[in-house]
Amino acid sequence: MVVLLGAIVVLLAVGALAAYSLWPQDAGGYANADDPTQVALGRRVYMEACASCHGENLEGQPDWRVRLENGRLPAPPHDATGHTWHHPDELLFGMTKIGIAAVAGLEGYETDMPAFEGVLPDAEIWAVLAYIKSTWPPAVSARQANMNQQYQQN
Ligand code: HEC
Repeated sequence: MVVLLGAIVVLLAVGALAAYSLWPQDAGGYANADDPTQVALGRRVYMEACASCHGENLEGQPDWRVRLENGRLPAPPHDATGHTWHHPDELLFGMTKIGIAAVAGLEGYETDMPAFEGVLPDAEIWAVLAYIKSTWPPAVSARQANMNQQYQQN
């Protein structure tokens, strides 16, 4: 009887784990900074697709707060000194996939930030975000996690 109960508990635990790991993907994907596999993939993608503008160390372009002569903004850092962490994951995903103008509803907004739809699969965009998030200090991660929660409740 004890063995049987033990088996049921194990089965339930496995079931819950499977449901948990499947659910976020069904809900459109997720960026988990604590998942070493996702972070490693994201690092590779970042170096290939983002580092040329956002910097190999996520430091952004020099004087990134000052508009260029053409009126466009330089690439901001993705580390804790930038404002990437001011946004919830879903918005970061959207900005990367369909572009800043589309997400912000700013038609005709001119920017050097490319949209990666059709260039990177969704899984690689989520992975890049996981990598970026993995570089933030705990206090910054906690604040961004808070924003994610608020965003999901709205
Ligand atoms: C050709 C240069 C370039 C490349 C490559 C590039 N970006 Fe950007 N990115 C920019 C610029 C410039 C901005 C600022 C745009 C603006 O605000 O008008 C930006 C802004 C962003 C923002 C908004 C940040 C914020 O706080 O508002 C995100 C998120 C972002 N980039 C993610 C990425 C990711 C992820 C990649 C790689 C998959 C990438 N970018 C590749 C130039 C680039």
